[in-house]
Amino acid sequence: MRHTEMPTTPMILGMALLLGFLVTLEAQLQLGFYTQSCGFAEFIVKDEVRKGLMTDSGFAAGLIRLHFHDCFVRGCDGSVLIDSTASNVAEKDSPVNNPSLRGFEIIDNAKAKLELMCKGVVSCADIVAFAARDAVEMAGGLGYDVPAGRRDGRVSLATDTFTNLPPPTADVNLLTQIFANKGLTQEEMVILSGAHTVGQSHCTSFSNRLYTYNTTTSQDPTLDPNYAAQLKQQCPQGSTNPSLAVPMDPMSPFSLDSGYYMAVLANRGLFSSDQTLLTNSDTANQVNQNAVNPYLWRRKFAAAMVKMGQIGVLTGDAGEIRTNCRAINQ
Ligand code: HEM
Ligand SMILES: *[C@@H]1O[C@H](CO)[C@@H](O)[C@H](O)[C@H]1NC(C)=O
Repeated sequence: MRHTEMPTTPMILGMALLLGFLVTLEAQLQLGFYTQSCGFAEFIVKDEVRKGLMTDSGFAAGLIRLHFHDCFVRGCDGSVLIDSTASNVAEKDSPVNNPSLRGFEIIDNAKAKLELMCKGVVSCADIVAFAARDAVEMAGGLGYDVPAGRRDGRVSLATDTFTNLPPPTADVNLLTQIFANKGLTQEEMVILSGAHTVGQSHCTSFSNRLYTYNTTTSQDPTLDPNYAAQLKQQCPQGSTNPSLAVPMDPMSPFSLDSGYYMAVLANRGLFSSDQTLLTNSDTANQVNQNAVNPYLWRRKFAAAMVKMGQIGVLTGDAGEIRTNCRAINQ
């Protein structure tokens, strides 16, 4: 047989397969991404989360929400961590995030340690994803493995938060739409809403339901009147104190249990966006199922967090590894 320079069919197939494999690797996150480059990365983050929660266990809720607000705005790229500058109002200074979003110092502390150990290796976006997982675990949720390799974005605009994050006044159709825009199903929307079993809300986020519901009715009739009366005491009308806040699941505000679904079933969901889940038969069914089967919900919650953590990620050569999570690299 004559020797030829032409590649054989199996060779072409093999090359195509290899190329496909490399492209897939580049577009996806990987478990154990830092095993070779910074083996202790996840332990360092966990240790900082543990220390942060010792000063205030409310930070668990803060870190879980931080990951959500990062991922829904420009993908999970750490853009929520960037500080505003003289010429830019960043995501974190949108009224949606400031003053309520918390846990930034924990991310800063983890990043500082990681820069000392493995300079320029671990992205801020991955730190947020690891920290949210640790917070879930420490609040009594189910632990899960976090695929990593996210890169950090270089853009953060407050205006992006209004169009990408759901408002607490949203009805079930709007919620479903906003989550679908991020590749999440309606069922995952109901599952992730269960995060409101931990943490707090400022009065300003729901006081419309107590005092200014609509032009003819001051109080939202879908809110349990006894609970409304209690909330009115905690959140007096016209209070000028912007830091007034109440627990979202008063029975167990620090525990990632299915108390949220019990509350919604009792018309004690704090936001319209919580209570609205009973207005659609599919979402109402899921609320019921999650309320009666907390162990299954914990598993579904962990899986939905992994999926949320992959929204719009930057990988490969995209973006950068920020040196300081609060500022893009110069
Ligand atoms: C379904 C649509 C959602 C809406 C409309 C919504 C809205 C809100 C609002 C208004 C607050 C209170 C902020 C404040 O005033 O202090 C809040 C708190 C919180 N949200 Fe959501 N949220 C949604 C989904 C989620 C998801 C998917 C997660 C995470 C997986 C999440 C996690 C949290 C946590 C943990 C808190 C408490 C934060 C703290 O205590 O610092 N939320 N949410
Ligand atoms: C206000 O809300 C009540 C209770 O849901 C409803 O019956 C009424 O039609 C609403 N009024 C307006 C003007 O939307």
